[in-house]
Amino acid sequence: MKDFKLEIANIISSQVSDLSLDEIVSLIEVPPNKDMGDYAFPCFKLAKIFRKAPNLIAQELCDKIEKTDYIQKIEVAGAYINFFIDKSSLAKSVLTEVLNKKDDYGKTNVGEGKTVIVEFSSPNIAKPFHIGHIRSTVIGNALYKVYKALGFNTVRINHLGDYGTQFGKLIVAFKRWGDEEEVKKAPIKTLLKLYVKFHEEAENEPSLDEEARMWFKKLEEGDKEATELWQWFRDVSLQEFNKVYDMLGIEFDSYAGESFYSDKMPRVINIMKEKGIIKESKGAQIVDLEEYNMPPALITKSDGSTLYLTRDIAAAIYRKETYDFYKNIYVVGSQQILHFNQWIKVVELMGFDWAKDCVHVPFGMVSLEEGTMSTRKGRVVFLEDVLNKAVEKTKEIIMEKNPNLENIDEVAKQIGIGAVVFQELSNNRIKDYTFSWDRTLNFDGETGPYVQYTHTRTCSVLRKANEEISSDVDFSVLTDDDSVNVIKEIGNFPKVVKDVIKNNEPHIIARYVVDLAQAFNKFYHDNVILVDDEKTKKARLALVEATRQTIKNALSLLGVEAPERM
Ligand code: ARG
Repeated sequence: MKDFKLEIANIISSQVSDLSLDEIVSLIEVPPNKDMGDYAFPCFKLAKIFRKAPNLIAQELCDKIEKTDYIQKIEVAGAYINFFIDKSSLAKSVLTEVLNKKDDYGKTNVGEGKTVIVEFSSPNIAKPFHIGHIRSTVIGNALYKVYKALGFNTVRINHLGDYGTQFGKLIVAFKRWGDEEEVKKAPIKTLLKLYVKFHEEAENEPSLDEEARMWFKKLEEGDKEATELWQWFRDVSLQEFNKVYDMLGIEFDSYAGESFYSDKMPRVINIMKEKGIIKESKGAQIVDLEEYNMPPALITKSDGSTLYLTRDIAAAIYRKETYDFYKNIYVVGSQQILHFNQWIKVVELMGFDWAKDCVHVPFGMVSLEEGTMSTRKGRVVFLEDVLNKAVEKTKEIIMEKNPNLENIDEVAKQIGIGAVVFQELSNNRIKDYTFSWDRTLNFDGETGPYVQYTHTRTCSVLRKANEEISSDVDFSVLTDDDSVNVIKEIGNFPKVVKDVIKNNEPHIIARYVVDLAQAFNKFYHDNVILVDDEKTKKARLALVEATRQTIKNALSLLGVEAPERM
């Protein structure tokens, strides 16, 4: 695709020797409205250099610049030189690119040779995968897809919460009150019940806590019975998590969770000793972080057992040694900001300069609007139930709108689950938000179903046309405002994808694809596509095809499917 901004910078550069090409590129702006052209070059900086009025400089420079075939006109407006791109050239450049690249449109290789780890989801074994976990799962998956599309090597890690004193409690609870069959049937619900029961009983019978500590110690020492039970809890929980991952179409490259690092602690503590940063405090070992305005990092408890934070340090070292990452990203809720600041600081104090490449990507909380899920008081909302309900509600909507649709169940799944995923990615990730069915499943709002519906609309036009789509068309047909708006949106896609990794904000793709869908729907509303005039029809079909492809590619980066009918 022609990089018009760069082309314009080159033209300016050939007349101006006092600024580098890069400087010129960075000065070029996109004007706030289209009467001012597609790109504008402000002359304030040159005015300073030449000690002349900026509008004079703009006029002088404009007189010298030669027009090329892809620039329709060049105008001076005050201190700015405004460039108007020839609309046919724009259409040709953008549409040819999309139609050639197809599923690869938006992909680049800027990340070649670099490895990015995206750690996401990371639920706790024997605890429910609840609506809060979906944010990590969905944001992490989208980030992974974007990094991959930009050519990075990627590693998806699910840092399972599969270790810690709670496993001692679970073992005790299971041995006392557990039933194997029940656990097999509904692992997480049953294990959770046992866990809750343990806490209730321990209030009256404090010796249970002591027993739990003992069982955890046994587990740490590799005791056969403890290990077998733990392994079983882990397996059945993971099977259940995998059901959710399957529904979402999500996979991982590694499930190395907290337990994986349990034998890697002594080395970590030795390095801390060597660096002289660890000290005793009331029997525990800590790294003091007062100098950095943070509470101390607790490394080992007084009974010698290690903690969540220590395991994170061991995991980061392991990942550096195993993958030699360029970035090690953690998609974890904002409640853990302090935790991440603490351990990353400790890693830095241990002398690892790559500490700066460990990036916490936090996100806000989800709460459910009243009545979203019927739950008995105090019961947690399981993600699986939310997804199932989304599918069910979507099916009802489709039954009303399009009762004759083939494979309704399959489509209801794609839309219902897509709607929840899209909703999660529609907002700036750090914002807390309230989940509501109306907002999520609204087919006319800025939602997943709206974008998916627009996609099916493009598919339907192309089906009706039933002819080969080519980019060898008369692009002058596509120079009206409606067409140009769609083409500009399509042309922005590769830049939007690149922008995601600046702040690890996948929601900008969700916003983008809504804008594209809106621009297309305006075009669709105002223009007949399958007209008799062949020239017009062929050009418009090329635009429809490019829109279809771009929406599909954008949704795919978000982890949302694009059905062809709905
Ligand atoms: N298991 C933790 C939880 O559910 C999240 C783990 C986050 N990742 C990490 N490396 N600390 O709260």
